[in-house]
Amino acid sequence: PKGLLITIDGPAGAGKSTVAKKLAQKLGYLYLDTGAMYRVVALAAKRLGLDFQDEERLGELAKTLDFKLVPRENGVSVFLGEEDVSQAIRTPEIDRLSSVVARVPGVREALKTRQQAIGKEGGVIAEGRDMGSVVFPDAEIKFFITASLEARARRRYKEQKQKGLNISFEEVLTNLRERDERDSKREVAPLVIPEGAIIIDTSELSPEQVLDMVLKEIEKVK
Ligand code: C5P
Repeated sequence: PKGLLITIDGPAGAGKSTVAKKLAQKLGYLYLDTGAMYRVVALAAKRLGLDFQDEERLGELAKTLDFKLVPRENGVSVFLGEEDVSQAIRTPEIDRLSSVVARVPGVREALKTRQQAIGKEGGVIAEGRDMGSVVFPDAEIKFFITASLEARARRRYKEQKQKGLNISFEEVLTNLRERDERDSKREVAPLVIPEGAIIIDTSELSPEQVLDMVLKEIEKVK
């Protein structure tokens, strides 16, 4: 066996990807960024000018889309065909559109198939919204990483300022709140705390403290 299958779920901006990336590095595991998959589908749909209400077309697109997640030093590069879209999928517009395509059952089904194919061997840190609940219900360890809306908005605001985006704190807060709503209230695979998950609230914690707590929990299972 290549190692454990570890899932990390939680709302946007809670620090999931920061801890997932560090953990993958530390353990020599594969970082499976499932949010990137929804993002690349959203980007492709936008470029094709698809109707975001057309669930059939969106499902078909997710099933047939030629994209790749390529592991790199600190995270993952995302390719749409031959094009590196790692930056293009991380804009406020794609934040929003990814959560719109994520409501479509056919899109979720197509991506779940790809995710399970990657995760089944183990040695994987699977990060997303439904990893422990739907995609990998039998994972050896499940984490639910969360934080207050305020704390998450503060972090996102800082990130987006660093990227040079001209966006107000209020806008960041509103965008996060709307995305949380869509992710938590959709009918298929909504964001929930998976059964048996270890819950970590990162509002008052540094990334190092979170990593420490997660590593301690993993040691107990190993
Ligand atoms: O995690 P990230 O912010 O990159 O995810 C983008 C969007 O993709 C989320 O807001 C959510 O709507 C969707 N998503 C999902 N299920 C996952 C991962 C992401 O629905 N497992």
